[in-house]
Amino acid sequence: MKLLAGNWKMNNTLEEGADLMEALIEGLPAEVVGDVRVVVSPPFLQLPQIVHALWENAQIAVAAQNGHAADGGAFTGEVSMAMLRDAEVDAVIIGHSERRQYFGETDSDVAEKVQSALRNQLIPIVCVGEVLAQRKAGTYLEDTWNQLHAAFARVNPEDMSDCVIAYEPVWAIGTGEVATAAQAQEVHAYLRAQMEATFGVSDMPIVYGGSCKPSNAAEIFAQPDVDGGLIGGASLVAADFIALVELLKAS
Ligand code: PGA
Repeated sequence: MKLLAGNWKMNNTLEEGADLMEALIEGLPAEVVGDVRVVVSPPFLQLPQIVHALWENAQIAVAAQNGHAADGGAFTGEVSMAMLRDAEVDAVIIGHSERRQYFGETDSDVAEKVQSALRNQLIPIVCVGEVLAQRKAGTYLEDTWNQLHAAFARVNPEDMSDCVIAYEPVWAIGTGEVATAAQAQEVHAYLRAQMEATFGVSDMPIVYGGSCKPSNAAEIFAQPDVDGGLIGGASLVAADFIALVELLKAS
């Protein structure tokens, strides 16, 4: 399955989010989207209006950027996966490097969130990726696999095909420094092989993220183990995100 997800991060007013969504709906009719699964991931406050805007649009799905592992309770400031499901959200990004880096999320938190997402019928988009020091030390394959293994350790293999994996080298996120197509392919192929060897499941989409934009995406999307992208900056510009959908469809 080909998948392109736009991670809006902490951007856009309600009005800007609505305008962006309107442009995406207009620019992404069924014939443009083709066999690509398109996902947008706005901040929590914008989720209901985006879900509403997409009420009659089957082409685009909605993901939250985070969710709490508990279904409810005394967790001031948090939003549960159960609440996301109640709001008709389809998916949730889990373990994004910004959550790991700035909010102290651990592999164990990520594992609990993946379980919670599945329990609440949300598609987990599980992010993994090495930091620059790990890339330089040559340990990036093991480091990335360790994160992924931990995320799925307690998941029933039967549920794994419903998940999405996002490989996002931290040194490439928001830096303008994109991984080469060969670097992305190497890690994607490794993660897929490890998933197969460990859990017997390897048919989930594995998407690339990190400074991916229309000018560099074609070569990355052409790799056999790259099933799409998780797009930050370029997902805030309707024309760029639509161009990325078209590139992925053509790949
Ligand atoms: P970027 O972000 O495309 O702005 O590098 C990707 C992401 O963090 O998901």
